[in-house]
Amino acid sequence: MKLNIDSPPTLIWLDDHIEIIEQTLLPAELKVIKLRNVEEVIDAIFRLAVRGAPAIGACGAYGIVVALNEGSPATVDEARAILDKDGERIGNARPTAVNLSWAVNRVCTYAKKGETVEDIHRLALESANAVFNEDRAACDAIGTFGSEELADYSVIMTHCNAGRLATTGIGTALGVIYGKARAGQEVEVYSSETRPLLQGARLTSWELSTAGIPVTVMPDSAGSSLLRTGRIHAVVVGADRIAANGDVANKVGTYTHALAAKAAGVPFYVAAPTSTLDALTATGADIEIEQRIPEEIQRCGDKQTTPDGVNIWNPAFDVTPAELVTAIITEVGVLRPDYNESIRGALAAVATK
Ligand code: MRU
Repeated sequence: MKLNIDSPPTLIWLDDHIEIIEQTLLPAELKVIKLRNVEEVIDAIFRLAVRGAPAIGACGAYGIVVALNEGSPATVDEARAILDKDGERIGNARPTAVNLSWAVNRVCTYAKKGETVEDIHRLALESANAVFNEDRAACDAIGTFGSEELADYSVIMTHCNAGRLATTGIGTALGVIYGKARAGQEVEVYSSETRPLLQGARLTSWELSTAGIPVTVMPDSAGSSLLRTGRIHAVVVGADRIAANGDVANKVGTYTHALAAKAAGVPFYVAAPTSTLDALTATGADIEIEQRIPEEIQRCGDKQTTPDGVNIWNPAFDVTPAELVTAIITEVGVLRPDYNESIRGALAAVATK
């Protein structure tokens, strides 16, 4: 299989601004847009123009550099005040993916060590570049560990998009797919379309098909019957936040697939960098689940889909309990139950690096 993964990066820092692929337009149009101020950064994250936990983390990290440029502080105190105020605003643009607040806090804390305004600017950019580069490297490592772990499995089901579009590298769940292809293993993917914004149908199928990997799109609700046929060897999904006990918050619909995989005896893997592990959140019940606007359910394109006045519940994510997760593939290795212990070990391993 010839692997082509040379499409433009999901986001990149260029001189004084961030460039992102405007993901809401895919697959019809591949357009790159510039984010030049804090409002544009927050808006792009909120609209899902840039999305996926590690990608919004990197975007938020560079967003801090944008904030310093935009605020052009004259003193160290002014620069630190910008870090506090805009760090808070950018870090809260979406609540569920821990990578966003993690990356923003990391950049702000590091930049605050600067003793001059120039130092603060320099340290912020240095730290944001580190977030970007570490995620890229983590994706490659996840791909390698994943390809070893799933070497005997060739037909993989996934949900949402946890690929090149969602990270600064080859992706997490899709990083495993690319890792298998790089290792010369056979691989094909079933992608559920993913409500409400069709990240699976629009994005996963776009990036896998442009890479040359066979992909089939299905409605989310077809996952359980597909799993029951025995055609799927493993499910691999990404994550937005993994609690200390291994409960996994990911795109709404993930939990349904995990239950169906359990019923069908199919292994259910989560692929995520250690920046998605949240030792400060004890269980999935403590994870804030983002609620999205009702219009995403009330309309499909320009068509009305629900009667006027009907209540809408539109959570962006759900939580899959740890007992349904076969293993968590990270850049420091494959974590297995007991997750309290293996997650603690993984975080200790990166802390000492
Ligand atoms: O709302 P989204 O599109 O940002 O949701 C993305 C997901 O749920 C991904 O699976 C997760 O962020 C992991 S991306 C490597």
